[in-house]
Amino acid sequence: MFEASPYYTGRFDQPAGLKEGIRVFESLQQLPPDAIIGIMALFRADDDKRKVDLSVGVFMEDDGQTPVLESVRKAELELLEQQKTKTYVAIAGNAGYNSGMQELVFGKGHDVLRDQRVATVQSPGGSGGLSVAGHLLHRAKPNASVHVSSPTWPNHMPLLKLSGLKIAEYPYYDYQRHLVDFDRMVGAVEKIPAGDILLLHGCCHNPCGADLSQEQWRVLAEICGRRGIVPFVDFAYQGLSEGLDEDAYGARLMAEKVPELVVVASCSKNFGVYRERVGSVFAVCEDRETRDAVASNLANVARGIYSMPPDHGAAIIDRVLHDAALRKLWVSEVAKIRERINGLRGLLVAKLRERGVERDFSFIEKERGMFSFLGISKEQVIRLREEFHVYMVESSRINLAGINSSNVDYVADSIAEVLKT
Ligand code: LMR
Repeated sequence: MFEASPYYTGRFDQPAGLKEGIRVFESLQQLPPDAIIGIMALFRADDDKRKVDLSVGVFMEDDGQTPVLESVRKAELELLEQQKTKTYVAIAGNAGYNSGMQELVFGKGHDVLRDQRVATVQSPGGSGGLSVAGHLLHRAKPNASVHVSSPTWPNHMPLLKLSGLKIAEYPYYDYQRHLVDFDRMVGAVEKIPAGDILLLHGCCHNPCGADLSQEQWRVLAEICGRRGIVPFVDFAYQGLSEGLDEDAYGARLMAEKVPELVVVASCSKNFGVYRERVGSVFAVCEDRETRDAVASNLANVARGIYSMPPDHGAAIIDRVLHDAALRKLWVSEVAKIRERINGLRGLLVAKLRERGVERDFSFIEKERGMFSFLGISKEQVIRLREEFHVYMVESSRINLAGINSSNVDYVADSIAEVLKT
């Protein structure tokens, strides 16, 4: 029989001495929905049959579905059959996954791996990795600012601010010419103080799709090395631009040229394991002794936030990376994802041209990754959403992978229509 606890009254009485109007949560204001996930929620709530989702960055096949990759499914089935325990793994995560990811990102035999200078932890997705890296950098250099590109992924700012870093911006995209405004970028980077952090998108810039050329990476590596700026590469789309190795050019070059660097990788897109939350933090250090100190701090930060990363997705990827047949299958699946997105870029441009749209959208074909800006106004974006049920981020960022053979004509018609206003 239930015995009432002497401590529990079953009512939320105001404790003696606590005055009305001083509840702790009273100070919190209702916040606006997330710039990206909020649009995804609006899309899901829309029951119009014509609706098209070009908002959140997930890959979709021609049938509009985000598939589980075959390599991932096979590894997952093996895992389910063979897994013997679900006891804790380790604060730094799965060792096989960590070494596999080090090689995927830096390339087998890279100096920093040979010299064992990379402190590594598995993280809960790329976002979790950015947060851990942000806390690590803030702990190492409490007054440092992280300089982010203008524009950048809208979550970079709040996420890195929460980790304690100050945020500054550098010019990146030329909205008129649809190119990286490299001269202005370099002008700003040359003024970044030593010890500050320069956040760069490894490839497939989110949101603009305009990437640094190899030559531009070389220029930036030289400046970072000379000025003592710490590059921080957000590498969420490896394999989706030109190829798995090609896309790693910038991260690998930086690792070669500067003594200290952070790379955060995500497996959400290239392994399609979005909801499993799989990512990595790599801190490249000057020597092994520093690596050990940094690794212990990375583990301490992770333990302090979430204790340990989720295992399932990383265990799958460990298998995919280390089983020759699964890896080969996965490499071919990434190639298909990349080719599909690049093909859709050309298709949308052609469909807009077919409709006699005067504005030149050919830049979309030259950009890379899931995203490009359409370059239309906020009012036009809202009209597309409310009148045509075509959803995109308010900045006019579209996810090309949301286009398919059944909706491309409708998308092109809708864009052509709002361009008339
Ligand atoms: C995006 O930019 O749409 C993706 O990276 C998903 C996200 O978490 O915002």
